[in-house]
Amino acid sequence: MTAIAVLGSTNMDLVAYVARAPGRGETVTGREFRTVPGGKGANQAVAAARAGGDVVMIGAVGTDEYGSALRTNLEHAGVDTELLHTVAGPSGTAHIVVDDEGSNAIVVIPGANGTVTSLGPGGSAAIAAAGLLLLQLELPLPVVTEGARTAKARGVRTILTPSPVQPLPAGLLDDIDLLVPNEHEAAALTGCVDPHGAAQILLRQVPEVVITLGRKGCLYAARGGEPVLFPAPEVTAVDTTGAGDTFVGTLAVALGEGRSVPAALAWASSAAALCVQRPGASTSMPHRSEIDAA
Ligand code: RIB
Repeated sequence: MTAIAVLGSTNMDLVAYVARAPGRGETVTGREFRTVPGGKGANQAVAAARAGGDVVMIGAVGTDEYGSALRTNLEHAGVDTELLHTVAGPSGTAHIVVDDEGSNAIVVIPGANGTVTSLGPGGSAAIAAAGLLLLQLELPLPVVTEGARTAKARGVRTILTPSPVQPLPAGLLDDIDLLVPNEHEAAALTGCVDPHGAAQILLRQVPEVVITLGRKGCLYAARGGEPVLFPAPEVTAVDTTGAGDTFVGTLAVALGEGRSVPAALAWASSAAALCVQRPGASTSMPHRSEIDAA
């Protein structure tokens, strides 16, 4: 089995479910509050492990009560947490509003994630031993860059989710094999709101791109080939939080197993469709048997 290393964030998600998200200066009364393990890195790790991957998580949690709960959640999913360091201070938190259409808005407070500024020997060795490295942008950018560079030097395939979207350091994309933005992130990175146009611009810097389009599916583009639109299963979303992370974690497992890109994208789309039908981030990620059945 191809080992998957995830260099990324671990957050406790503090989720308010509301009919409609408040506007600026407005107060609304919500329906429900939940505390759910999340973080883009941890979500991708959980998704990959539930899909059958051999996963190691590199990152940090705090010494607060969230820290131990976040570690336990990863371990229950079968993720190796030896390189998930515990550092003095609070864990990362994400403050999330989910509306009746399942759409969300998120504020992340990095906490312990912000202390992950270098890989250290353990992190470098774990990446070198992996077949795939999953990266997002909720850790400090220097360590994301270091992770990508380390992977590239060892021939480890790199997948970057450029979220939260922000200006990228020079050279980072040179070390990325597959970029997986959503349509908003693709537009922010390229200035082009048309996903086809954005994909062509991104292909100048990375060899392969998947732009996720929510209920419309995803657009896959590789250098030298025609872009292909893959539809998503039609489902009713209750909470889209973590859907992109589910997609990437599951996609990594499928690619690591040597599946073709179309087969891998179809499998990942099925997993993401299952995820959006359940509330929460890591709580909503499907197991391999469910994805296969879907
Ligand atoms: O991608 C979803 C995740 O983004 C949430 O779990 C939250 O923690 C934020 O990091």
